[in-house]
Amino acid sequence: MQPPSIAIVGATGAVGRECLSILQQRNFKHAEGPDGIKLLASSRSAGTTIPYRGQQLPVEELGPNSFRGVKLAFFAAGADTVRAFAPIAVASGCTVIDKSSAYRADPNTPLVIPEVNPEALATLRGKSGIAAVPNCSTIILLIPLTPIRKAFGIDRIVVSTYQAASGAGAAAMEELESQTRDVLAGKSAQPRIFKEPCAFNVFSHDSAMNPTTGQNSEEQKFTTESRKIWNDPTVKVNATCIRVPVMRGHSESVCLTLTQPATESQFRAVLAGAPGLTLIDDRSNNSFPTPLKVSGGDNVLVGRIRPDDTQEVVAGDAGAAYRGWNLWICGDQLRTGAALTAVKIAELLQREDGHR
Ligand SMILES: NC(=O)c1ccc[n+]([C@@H]2O[C@H](COP(=O)([O-])OP(=O)(O)OC[C@H]3O[C@@H](n4cnc5c(N)ncnc54)[C@H](OP(=O)(O)O)[C@@H]3O)[C@@H](O)[C@H]2O)c1
Repeated sequence: MQPPSIAIVGATGAVGRECLSILQQRNFKHAEGPDGIKLLASSRSAGTTIPYRGQQLPVEELGPNSFRGVKLAFFAAGADTVRAFAPIAVASGCTVIDKSSAYRADPNTPLVIPEVNPEALATLRGKSGIAAVPNCSTIILLIPLTPIRKAFGIDRIVVSTYQAASGAGAAAMEELESQTRDVLAGKSAQPRIFKEPCAFNVFSHDSAMNPTTGQNSEEQKFTTESRKIWNDPTVKVNATCIRVPVMRGHSESVCLTLTQPATESQFRAVLAGAPGLTLIDDRSNNSFPTPLKVSGGDNVLVGRIRPDDTQEVVAGDAGAAYRGWNLWICGDQLRTGAALTAVKIAELLQREDGHR
């Protein structure tokens, strides 16, 4: 069967460009020739070019006719653009893999992390439709927490994030860079994308704040998306989301309350060899995950694994078993948190269903 013609909507953005480079790195199979891969963006970018597999590919303006002949489209644009164009793509027989929040809560749209719930894609088998990629911070959290939950159960999650500027897109990356230069040159930082100065600063996540609950939408997504992905409405997540002056790679400090207490060797054994993660936990050299270590990588990095002895401790023949556990995790949110997860979803669909 012929590989499909594909499109990237938002190809000029931070996630879109990463998606293109991952397709190249993984040698993703798509149709050859000028219609094999279409790069779509706003009118601002139409006529520009982006390098891909030794060629300069033109960027076209997204429009209602953009999906003619396209079988698979990666959407890496804002939720409003996705809501306007994803239904048009699906109606023309295209499968959409969407990185925005537009369809994550839709009960008819699978919300998928390939390492966690690939079975959710079954509803798309043999037909066009939309698969939603979860929020970047949720993906980075659930990759290590899923094997822990399967082994011991998790009653409660407390997570604090340290989120990179690039989580807010290409313009936010430019803002961090230009503000850093300005401050080092003795000028004041000029906030445009973020309300607070980003360089040399740390501030509450810039997503919409619910004035009643005091939670911002990034914090709320941890709960709603984890419940959907794990298919468990009782999941409890207490999140605090913070933006830090890091260019790329989100970090998360996690404290868990397990259902069944675990000894240190039991807990570590579950994480060792789990899909999508790498342990960096060298206490003697004080070497642990960092955003720089994870930048450009595929796996979530996990370290600072230690029991929380302020929670229940159960003495036993195999040693002390702890209900409370701490972790420090880092993930490249442009890759694992967005583009790589989307491409892995596409690969799963292609494997199961040759027409895409
Ligand atoms: N950044 C992350 O770490 C991350 C992680 C997970 C999910 N996401 C989600 O991924 C999506 C893209 O984020 P991003 O960070 O890549 O943003 P970005 O860097 O700002 O890129 C946005 C892209 O959308 C295009 N676009 C904007 N308005 C458009 C329109 N009316 N029609 C067609 N294209 C339009 C832009 O094209 P122009 O260049 O022509 O303006 C650009 O290619 C968002 O939904 C975001 O929430 C981002």
